[in-house]
Amino acid sequence: MARRIVGAEEAASLIPSGARIGMSGFTGSGYPKAVPMALARRIAEGNLRGEKFQVSVFTGASTGPELDGALALAGGVHLRLPYQSDPETRKRINAGEMDYMDIHLSHVAQYLEYGFLGKLDYAVVEVTAIREDGLLVPATSVGNNRTWMEQAEKIILEVNSWQPIELEGMHDIYYGVDLPPHRKPIPLVTPAQRIGSPYFHVPLDKVVAVVETNSPDRNSAFKAPDEASRRIAGHILEFLAWEVEEGRVPQSLLPLQSGVGNIANAVLFGLAEGPFENMTSYTEVIQDGMIRLLKSGKLASASATAFSISPEALEGVMADIGEFRDKIILRPQDISNHPEIIRRLGVIAMNAMIEADIYGNVNSTHVMGSRIQNGIGGSGDFARNGYLAIFMAPSMAQAGAISTIVPMVSHVDHTEHDVDVIVTEQGLADLRGLSPRQRARLIIEKCAHPDARPLLRDYQDRAERLAFGKHTPHLLAESLSWHGRYLRTGRMLPGAGD
Ligand code: COA
Repeated sequence: MARRIVGAEEAASLIPSGARIGMSGFTGSGYPKAVPMALARRIAEGNLRGEKFQVSVFTGASTGPELDGALALAGGVHLRLPYQSDPETRKRINAGEMDYMDIHLSHVAQYLEYGFLGKLDYAVVEVTAIREDGLLVPATSVGNNRTWMEQAEKIILEVNSWQPIELEGMHDIYYGVDLPPHRKPIPLVTPAQRIGSPYFHVPLDKVVAVVETNSPDRNSAFKAPDEASRRIAGHILEFLAWEVEEGRVPQSLLPLQSGVGNIANAVLFGLAEGPFENMTSYTEVIQDGMIRLLKSGKLASASATAFSISPEALEGVMADIGEFRDKIILRPQDISNHPEIIRRLGVIAMNAMIEADIYGNVNSTHVMGSRIQNGIGGSGDFARNGYLAIFMAPSMAQAGAISTIVPMVSHVDHTEHDVDVIVTEQGLADLRGLSPRQRARLIIEKCAHPDARPLLRDYQDRAERLAFGKHTPHLLAESLSWHGRYLRTGRMLPGAGD
């Protein structure tokens, strides 16, 4: 492998226009940093000569500025999937200049294996080390790397000496996922169980270039929880205590999944103060709040596909690696997000949302129905299959201008059939066992902001009287114009409408 070491420019020069590339990376962790930048430079130089050069980029989830940011800025991405949160990429997608496929994170590997995405030309994967026996030590994220390297015709490896060598032994790369009709049960019955190998096993003759780097991951620090996040966390804790009291879940709860962002992180901070002991998590990303829970001893283990922690928290983990190595397991994302396992373990799924409607449908991805924010990520994998699907948001968005509880969501990611609980700082609505009309009353009273409640009550009253059907009463013209009214007036509060 030493003979295949080249500079990033030379490695990037191997990639032709039109290539489909599977890149590593999940949040700001474990993504290649040198080859995408070199590729972006090459594309930008070509643009100056009037050449069009674009590639399709598949990843684990969002990545960092050296990958998504650089390639988007150069106009070098034709198709992107499955999740992004980069401002330049978002701008290009929303301008209609880049195609984006927003699919469940657990589906990506099998999409490629089924052939829905075409043939993968290159895998560009960051690793911590190449061992003498040819096994690869994964980095701070696993994502779809196993699949990329299995399926790609050629592999480019970035060996990043910044990645702590202490990561060796923390990963669990399962190789037993076959396609139907040969698919077998995945033998994972507890969150901390190891069922695979700590290494990637790769046919080394496919590796055409190895690039050495020393570049940090880029995960931004979390904001300290604000008042709304603390109140949301408080409602969830109270609710979970009720679930324990009712005998539906044990005192150690069921394995926790916690989504991206500051509210989810605040809930984890709340759990650190709460009464639950010996908890586990079966989730997608390990955030700062989870590290804190592990340190306090309240969380016994955390299974995920990536770290998504601040530089300080990562330093803390590596400093106490002996303590953490057995408690943290990083898996491929088709295992961390696998419906079979999530259903078996009875995961408690807690994810942020953009808006919910009065019947419990949830929009996680689109602002005003048409502008993508990030993507569905793993929220559908967990919500659809877990024991509990909790969705949370402040009751008002856009600095208090628009209610996040609306008559009809402007885009649906999670249907009323998959949503159990809606929480805002106002309160929590437990929708289980309720009919649509009962759900509507509860969501308005418990979750909507007091300024938005009269408008929503008025809508609900009139819909119940005038709708074509009385099962899920809607006044279609009015519900569909709700967001348009905001776009025209910039405000959604009573008296500010048409
Ligand atoms: N109406 C209009 N705009 C809204 C809105 C609403 N109901 N809700 C949010 N927005 C706007 C915000 O004002 C903000 O706009 P800005 O970028 O112009 O400031 C933007 O959308 C993002 O909102 P914010 O509150 O900052 O989002 P966040 O960082 O808390 O993330 C989600 C919330 C829903 C976007 C994020 O959690 C997400 O992408 N979820 C989907 C994926 C997921 O759940 N993954 C986890 C699975 S493991």
